[in-house]
Amino acid sequence: MKPKSATPVADGDGKYATPLSKNVHLLRWVEKMARLTKPANIHWVNGSDEENEELCAQLVAGGTFIKLNEELWPGCYYARSDASDVARVEERTFICSLSKDNAGPTNNWEDPYKMRRKLKSLFDGCMQGRTMYVLAFSMGPLDSPRAQIGVQITDSPYAVVNMRIMARVGVPVFQEIDKDEKRVVPCMHSVGMPLAPGAHDVPWPCNQEKYIVHFPETREIWSYGSGYGGNALLGKKCFALRIASNIARDEGWMAEHMLILGVENPNGEKTYVAAAFPSACGKTNFAMLIPPASFEGWKVWTVGDDIAWLWPDEEGRLRAINPEKGFFGVAPGTSVKTNPNAMASLSRNTIFTNVALTPEGGVWWEGMTDEPPAECLDWKGNLWTPQIAKETGAKAAHPNARFTAPASQCPTIDPDWENPEGVPISAIVFGGRRASVLPLVYQAFNWSSGVYIGATVGSEMTAAAAGTVGVVRRDPMAMLPFCGYHMGDYFRHWLKMQRRLKSTPRVFHVNWFRRDENGNFMWPGFSENMRVLKWITERARGRVIGQETPIGWMPRYEDMEWEGLDFSREQFESLQAVNLKQWHQEVLKHEELFIELHDHLPSEMIYERELLICRL
Ligand code: GTP
Ligand code: SPV
Ligand code: MN
Repeated sequence: MKPKSATPVADGDGKYATPLSKNVHLLRWVEKMARLTKPANIHWVNGSDEENEELCAQLVAGGTFIKLNEELWPGCYYARSDASDVARVEERTFICSLSKDNAGPTNNWEDPYKMRRKLKSLFDGCMQGRTMYVLAFSMGPLDSPRAQIGVQITDSPYAVVNMRIMARVGVPVFQEIDKDEKRVVPCMHSVGMPLAPGAHDVPWPCNQEKYIVHFPETREIWSYGSGYGGNALLGKKCFALRIASNIARDEGWMAEHMLILGVENPNGEKTYVAAAFPSACGKTNFAMLIPPASFEGWKVWTVGDDIAWLWPDEEGRLRAINPEKGFFGVAPGTSVKTNPNAMASLSRNTIFTNVALTPEGGVWWEGMTDEPPAECLDWKGNLWTPQIAKETGAKAAHPNARFTAPASQCPTIDPDWENPEGVPISAIVFGGRRASVLPLVYQAFNWSSGVYIGATVGSEMTAAAAGTVGVVRRDPMAMLPFCGYHMGDYFRHWLKMQRRLKSTPRVFHVNWFRRDENGNFMWPGFSENMRVLKWITERARGRVIGQETPIGWMPRYEDMEWEGLDFSREQFESLQAVNLKQWHQEVLKHEELFIELHDHLPSEMIYERELLICRL
């Protein structure tokens, strides 16, 4: 079952060599990039099913993909990355604005001229022996005035077939480009492993040297050395967050690391909520929540699970679209118990990366079933058994193993998820992974205290990025790795949005991850989060009472729906406890980030901090 090495089947017959665009800027850029990177072939990606099947077959022949058992996992493929290329690399991610001040202290910066020289040398000949794919994609439905277009040039067919699930790609996008009405964001990507003539390829080509580079002024992306996730699927974090946050600041809208969901109550009334949680902190789970049985007549609809673009509409209401077309979700922990909608979404036409492979040609990961398979091959291709795991602690799936699944396959996908005008947002929820201090839920007093709450979000680090897992760091609005300009200016942009809105969404903070003295989660989470969501949507509609506390408004025990859950008043009160001593410590941590941002920090943030200290 181990993938074998083989040279890629090059599409040397020229079937895809004809340019699919007549746009001279695009044609010139593609020519220039081909001269620089020196690929063996050029493939213009048309986005058809036939082409996708050919690419997948080629990935199977090259050993990158294993086709899963068609009866169990129709249309699904399995990939193992190189063991060194498993997550986003934040310390190799750069914002190369003209002035260092514009990138701010939370981003890595390099002089754009120096960086361009470096990239030129890295990309020189980097596609030798490989096919260069020209992949046009739209973030957002093509017919939406909010959609943005990019063209990714890549030497990774794996990136192409993933992008095809995550974004709208191919001929219709080239047609849009040919109208020459919208600015196109050029996205250069190479795995950084040229193939000498006759050399054998590896299943997962990549380079130990990695550069994920953004030029905000010229709206360009250059990514080198990685084939994984946000490093390689450039429409996602690089474009839809880092570059888009720059465009949004200039144009008066917002690009956020947020899920979007709609809550329908028994009267058929729908309330849309956007929520920002850091990477691997529960966005996908929350976006696909299924209410507990006792919530008769309530339904949660999914619009998006990772990114939201938000803008004020004509009536001064905040509206949002999900710019993506698929889910790139964390596999471990996903099960029919925790997230049946995700399980249905990934049941077919899905690409699995770094999960375990079962002898039947299926997939498995920690938490997928109570009973692990008797044996399987782990994400590195080694034999894994429950016994081996017990002895060595080896995980079958990498903690950042992911599935790439079409959003249209989600049973709760919202009828309006592709509405070109988006959906109206009534509440914004911030959240983090915090073992202590932060209560289950509270509401900000107003927009500016809400911005403060978002700006001071803290969360334990997860495996979504290379680094130390478990350490609490500040992750403002869950955008620390994704804000493409100075974080202080970003807070100012949030504050300014209020002036462009007739009514601002209500702002909340949640924490599903508080633990008791024995280290156990105090809150059951997952579908039970509906109880919190119900209070949030009713607060947003001004229908339910809140209790004033030093940090914000909180539900009383009797304001929450408890039917069907055995959760005592005492349990709730310890889950909601605001420990003043701990909060004084917490506010000191807020200060650490603020000191770093001081010269760009809006004065409102200082006032909000002072107010909080006074209330405490
Ligand atoms: P990115 O795709 O990295 O941006 O992350 P995400 O925010 O979509 O993360 P996801 O929903 O995949 O969350 C992954 C982790 O959070 C898994 O380990 C889940 O088990 C855990 N998780 C999600 N919701 C809950 C919850 O309500 N309670 C607890 N305890 N864990 C949760
Ligand atoms: C995240 O890390 O927040 C993700 C996964 O959503 S990736 O697209 O790889 O950034
Ligand atoms: Mn994310």
